[in-house]
Amino acid sequence: METILIKTDPSSPGEAEISRAADIIRNGGLVIFPTETVYGIGGDATDPESAKKIYAAKGRPSDNPLIIHIASPEEAEGYAVTCPLYYRLARAFMPGPITVILEKKDIIPFEVTGGLATVAVRCPSHPVANMLIRLSGVPVAAPSANVSGRPSATDAATALSDFDGKVDCLIDGGDAEFGLESTIVKITGDDSLLLLRPGAVTADALRCVCSDVKISDTVERAVGEGERPVCPGMKYRHYAPAKPLALVGGTKKERLEFFLRAAENENCVFICYDEQAPFLPRERTISLGSEKDLLSQGHLLFSALRHADVLPGERIYANLPPRKGLGLALRNRLIRAAAHTVVNAKEKLK
Ligand code: TXA
Ligand code: MG
Repeated sequence: METILIKTDPSSPGEAEISRAADIIRNGGLVIFPTETVYGIGGDATDPESAKKIYAAKGRPSDNPLIIHIASPEEAEGYAVTCPLYYRLARAFMPGPITVILEKKDIIPFEVTGGLATVAVRCPSHPVANMLIRLSGVPVAAPSANVSGRPSATDAATALSDFDGKVDCLIDGGDAEFGLESTIVKITGDDSLLLLRPGAVTADALRCVCSDVKISDTVERAVGEGERPVCPGMKYRHYAPAKPLALVGGTKKERLEFFLRAAENENCVFICYDEQAPFLPRERTISLGSEKDLLSQGHLLFSALRHADVLPGERIYANLPPRKGLGLALRNRLIRAAAHTVVNAKEKLK
């Protein structure tokens, strides 16, 4: 199939061009589109055949459910059972980078939810995503636009490199703002939430709306063989570059010393911070921005993981991010990209 390319102004997309893409979704086709988190690969969330096409294009296991995207928070009523806490979250964070797990209604097929009785609902703030959903007239099921297991695409060219000829249409709306997928929460009581996937809406921000926010241990822990986690996606290796990646923990000084020693003794690539980059070999170093600038790190992380694969070097080292604020989202993605390989700089320097 030939993939139709549509380039649009991300802040004020043209209705005529986006309706072309919306027609494709309504007719059972697949469209890659930008959101404020990452690019998504979308199809009609009420159509089991569209869901099957998404799984096939991504090479994704069909027990790993899809998120449905809606144009306004109230639209959730048509597809899921809402509650007052859902609307408190909606008032605080929607449209925006948050996904809420709710009990599904019959109109959403089990093909979309991977057989679960719940459905993940998200209302993106990106003007292109919003217009596409509105003009489609259906909820849009959309996982991140990456071949299963690879880092998510945060720009159109990367999405196209994974899916050219495998989807009907791609809308190029520039770089994704946050670069990390949405925060996923499950409502577990009138005033309690379980954080399943950290994102730009941080645990502290959630605590301003809900008094009991627990963080799922699968955010950092490896999921065991045969285990069924609340968030099925957590059991799969994800975000991974092709080269082995190890995360380095320790103080600022210990991490830099570890990197300097590795630069001398090993054939490796560094994903590091601006403060470290001047001391490391330029042709094998990628910086995510300042150590203090977590937004920049989130924005650049996935492209850095892909870029590290094409630089000369057999393995990749990166810093282990802190748990605070947006750091938890970076830490979650990196730990999974590294298949839980974390080294203690101090131990290794002994
Ligand atoms: O930012 C985002 O959320 C992006 C953009 C495109 O919106 N989408 C995205 O989708 O990251 P995906 O499919 O790559 O990740 C969805 C995650 C998976 O880990 C899946 O297991 C989890 O959401 N999920 C979906 N439905 C669920 C449910 N009913 N219960 C628990 N987890 C669910
Ligand atoms: Mg994904």
